[in-house]
Amino acid sequence: MILNKDCLLKKKIEDRVEFEECSIKLLGIDRLNEVVELEHKVYEELNNKDILYVDSYDDMYHEIKNGGKIIGVLNSKDRLIAYRYISIPGIRNHNLGLDIGIPHEQLKKVIHLETTVVDPIYRGNGLQDLTLQIASKLVRKEGYRHLLCTVSPYNFYSLYNVMKNGLKIKALKKKYGKSEDGSDGTWRFVLHNDLERILSNPIDMVTSKWTNIDLQKTLIDNGYIGYELSKETKQLNYIKFADDVTEISA
Ligand SMILES: CC(C)(COP(=O)(O)OP(=O)(O)OC[C@H]1O[C@@H](n2cnc3c(N)ncnc32)[C@H](O)[C@@H]1OP(=O)(O)O)[C@@H](O)C(=O)NCCC(=O)NCCS
Repeated sequence: MILNKDCLLKKKIEDRVEFEECSIKLLGIDRLNEVVELEHKVYEELNNKDILYVDSYDDMYHEIKNGGKIIGVLNSKDRLIAYRYISIPGIRNHNLGLDIGIPHEQLKKVIHLETTVVDPIYRGNGLQDLTLQIASKLVRKEGYRHLLCTVSPYNFYSLYNVMKNGLKIKALKKKYGKSEDGSDGTWRFVLHNDLERILSNPIDMVTSKWTNIDLQKTLIDNGYIGYELSKETKQLNYIKFADDVTEISA
């Protein structure tokens, strides 16, 4: 299934910039090997390996069989140069809705925005942003309500792109550990966008440097939500809302 026919990429090669046509498609299992290959290539090049949780072939295979999707960006030679992977956790206990108190009856309406990777020479084309917009439209049409993801508090580019698309920081905790309480995991923000509700009645705002984990943890524990991240100042606005929320009319 082709999702976006008119896609033009700029490609950085040493000190030159070239333009290239691309296409965006839902990938089938037949291209999963390419996804894993790109994921490993990007992972190997990361300075801080903690920021990317590596999904295995088997994890993605099972999630796709369970309704998950991979939105792939292909260059003019049909080579995979970026992808966004989304999954449907249902009522399984890794559902991120459980981390932020989504009512049990709504857990089936949760979508996980899992990994996104972009080949370094194609970065700066807004592909994380674009594939998130495509994914949101797709899942909204299918009746899902809650978009959730985790982002490392040390991954500025990813945090910025995700928050730009309306996801708000609702929790900060260790994730992906092996121990029962997860305390051996790595720090992750849990971000959420409820497609059917908007937050209203702000009652207080506090600004934090994006790297100040202790302050952000205290704010979240006291009911503040990470609302906006400034690209220029790298400051995060945390807002506390009155309890009531306004339903978005259909
Ligand atoms: C996070 C990521 C997907 C963003 O890629 P993207 O969509 O191409 O990023 P953007 O188009 O928003 O880039 C905006 C700017 O930041 C720069 N940028 C993006 N990611 C960067 C990175 N990891 N390191 C340095 N600069 C980066 C871009 O070059 C661009 O600069 P410009 O404005 O001067 O052209 C990409 O950096 C990546 O694959 N990172 C590794 C995997 C990862 O962390 N994934 C997210 C967690 S699942």
